[in-house]
Amino acid sequence: MSTLGIPDLAPELESALIAGLAEVEEFLVSHVEGEYPFITEASRHLALAGGKRLRPLITLLSSQFGKGISEDVIKAAVVVELTHLATLYHDDVMDEAPLRRGVPSANAKWDNTIAILTGDFLFAKASDLLADLGPEAVRLQARTFERLVTGQIMESVGGEGDQLAHYLKVVADKTGSLIATSARFGAMIGGASSEVVETLTTFGELIGVAFQLADDVIDIASESGESGKTPGTDLREGVSTLVTLHVMASSNPADAALKEILSQPIEDEKVVAEVLAELKAHPALEISRTQLSEYSNGAKASLKTLPESAAKDALMSLCDAIIERSS
Ligand code: IPE
Ligand code: IPE
Ligand code: MG
Ligand code: MG
Repeated sequence: MSTLGIPDLAPELESALIAGLAEVEEFLVSHVEGEYPFITEASRHLALAGGKRLRPLITLLSSQFGKGISEDVIKAAVVVELTHLATLYHDDVMDEAPLRRGVPSANAKWDNTIAILTGDFLFAKASDLLADLGPEAVRLQARTFERLVTGQIMESVGGEGDQLAHYLKVVADKTGSLIATSARFGAMIGGASSEVVETLTTFGELIGVAFQLADDVIDIASESGESGKTPGTDLREGVSTLVTLHVMASSNPADAALKEILSQPIEDEKVVAEVLAELKAHPALEISRTQLSEYSNGAKASLKTLPESAAKDALMSLCDAIIERSS
C-alpha cells in the first residue's frame, strides 16, 4: 500500500502526486486565515486534524489525462477540499456528531453557531480562490454545491415511496456531486479532451457514491475510534443509511423488533451498542457490501475508453481501496 492509500502506484506518478498534495496542503493552510486569531484557529481546526484528501487526490489524478499538475490544478484541488471541509462543519451540526478526523467536531469544541459560521467562512475562502479559475469553474462549483445541499436537505426531509431509491439519489447528490466535480476540475483545467472530461466526471460520480456507501458500512462495522468518527452517529440521529434501509426492507419476521427500534432516533447508549452489534452480524451488512462493490465495479467500467496509463491504473486501484476500507 502506498502512502496515498492507492496500492501499486507507479513510482513516477506517486512522486508527482506527493509533490502536488504537499502544495495543496501548504496552499490550503495559508489560504485559511482570518482577521482574528480565533477565526484562523477555528477555520484551520479540521484542516489540521487530518483527513484523507480524497477529493484533491482525484483532481490531481484527473489532471494527468491532460497536461498534468499546474498552478490552477492545485487551486482547484484546494477549492474542492475547502468546500468539503465547510460541509463537514455543517454536517456535524446537523448530525450532532461529537468527533471528526479524530478530534472534537467544531460544534463540540465550540458550539453550533461557531461551527455554522466557520463553515460559511470556508465557503467564502473557496469562492475567493475559485474566482481565479474563471466563470466556467465558478458555475460548475455553484451547480455542484446546489446538488450537494439538495442531497443534504432531502436526506433530512426524507422521501416518499421506495426508500432505498430515495437514499441512492441523496447519496449521489450529497457526495457524488463534489467527487464528480473534483475529477472534472482536474481534467478540465488540465486540458483533457471534452470526451475525457465527461468520462472522468462520470467516474467521479460513481466512485463518489461507492465511497459514501463504504462510509455507511464503516459507520456500522468499524470499531470505535478507527474512523476518526463516532460509530453509530446515524443511529443516534435516526438517519437511515444503506445498512439500516436494507434491514427495513426485510420481510423476515425475526427482524420486526430491530425494525421497530430503527424507526426512530436511539437515545439510550446501551441500545445503540446492542443495535450496532446486531447490525454487524445482520445479512443487511453483506447486502450493503455487495451493492457497494457494484458501484465500485461500475466506476471501474466507466474508465474503459481511457487510454492505458499509470493514472488510469491508479483510479482503478482507488476503487479497490474503497472496498478494502470497508471490509
Ligand atoms: C466524509 O468524507 C464525508 C463523506 C462524504 C463520506 P471523507 O471520508 O472524505 O472525510 P475526510 O476528508 O477523510 O475527513
Ligand atoms: C456527509 O454525509 C456528506 C456531506 C458532508 C455532504 P455523512 O453525514 O453521511 O458523513 P459522515 O459520516 O458524517 O462523514
Ligand atoms: Mg455526518
Ligand atoms: Mg450527514
